[in-house]
Amino acid sequence: MDDVLSRAELLARHSDSREHYTRTYLSAAHRAAAGQIAEWMRAAGMSVRVDAVGNVIGRYPGRMGSDPILLMGSHFDSVRNGGKYDGVLGILVPIACVGELNRRGERLRMAVEVAAFADEEGARFQTSFLASRALVKGAAAFAGILDRRDADGVTLAEAMHAAGLDPARIDDARIDPTALAAYVEVHIEQGPVLLGRGAPLGVVTSIAGGSRHLVTVCGAAGHAGTVPMAMRHDALAAAAEMVLAVEKCAAGEGAVGTVGMLEVRDGTGNVIPGEVQFTVDIRAPRDELRLRTEEAVFARFEAIAARRGIAIERSKRHEVRAVPCAEWLQDRLAASVRRSGAEPIHLPSGAGHDAMILAELADVGMLFVRCGAGGASHNPAETVGADDARLACDALLDFLKTF
Ligand code: HGY
Ligand code: MN
Ligand code: MN
Repeated sequence: MDDVLSRAELLARHSDSREHYTRTYLSAAHRAAAGQIAEWMRAAGMSVRVDAVGNVIGRYPGRMGSDPILLMGSHFDSVRNGGKYDGVLGILVPIACVGELNRRGERLRMAVEVAAFADEEGARFQTSFLASRALVKGAAAFAGILDRRDADGVTLAEAMHAAGLDPARIDDARIDPTALAAYVEVHIEQGPVLLGRGAPLGVVTSIAGGSRHLVTVCGAAGHAGTVPMAMRHDALAAAAEMVLAVEKCAAGEGAVGTVGMLEVRDGTGNVIPGEVQFTVDIRAPRDELRLRTEEAVFARFEAIAARRGIAIERSKRHEVRAVPCAEWLQDRLAASVRRSGAEPIHLPSGAGHDAMILAELADVGMLFVRCGAGGASHNPAETVGADDARLACDALLDFLKTF
């Protein structure tokens, strides 16, 4: 089967940055990567379409012709300075499997479609799962964000036009749920569990829910040298306490939480920060635990703001509920892993995936591939072993043939 890892290396060269691997929605590098993926899909015997939001979708018809669709896939955008397998592996493994079926002249009882989702991380426009959401909600997935600007001031709508996409046609990306038999995503684990258990592959039981908030704290800008300490309303000092509150509350509730971005508005070395904006990302395996953690975090924020004489605003930018993986798909994936010569480990996913969005249309399953480098991900140290990648292809091919 096609060498998935060498293709991942090749794809990683399509990066927005020369210094590191970053590929954001509809950038020049992103569009070049889309072209490369489409080429590999065609070489595997698939017909290819690019949908209204830039997803690249390959189709390998089944024996009868208008058959149910087994949809597979993952995303080909990345976080900033990320790893080259996050998302990409879940596109290249199914393409390699379809290529093998095509080489053998084999057709299955259902059609297989492989979706390369164009925007999952949302690094350019602070979105999340945007491109897979379009399959489910059409234009509603983009409601209210077409005028959102990237770091260069380009709006999402302008970026779409520049990429030859028409924001007025986004609804065309919606798919017919009645045609879907299931959605299965192969993904690197992005954690240390499989590594710790000495297992190359895992079957995902559930995917943690998550929410992301944008918080703005407003104090009083002032002269760093003249305002007495007791009279300061330092927005960054307040934000710093809040950042630590996220960490403390999440750990205390058994959830996870972090502040991934923080910006001091008009920050200058000799000015007491007047305004700070930061993100809050909270996740938990169960929604009630996540909501309880959110409440605890925001109560702490209010107390810190009141004590410091700081104003605080916050808005929820993204939320996705925790999703169970279908038992029957877990059983089938586990059997395929076993027939491929490995013992499957069942584990939850702390990371979010496009499978959470497709779960609104069909049963979903996920196959995890062991991460090396201590399980590092969203980090250039992210790595996958060649044997594990090959085993993932063997297991997925078995899954397809026995589906
Ligand atoms: O944030 C996530 O879990 C995914 O990498 N987008
Ligand atoms: Mn990711
Ligand atoms: Mn991912």
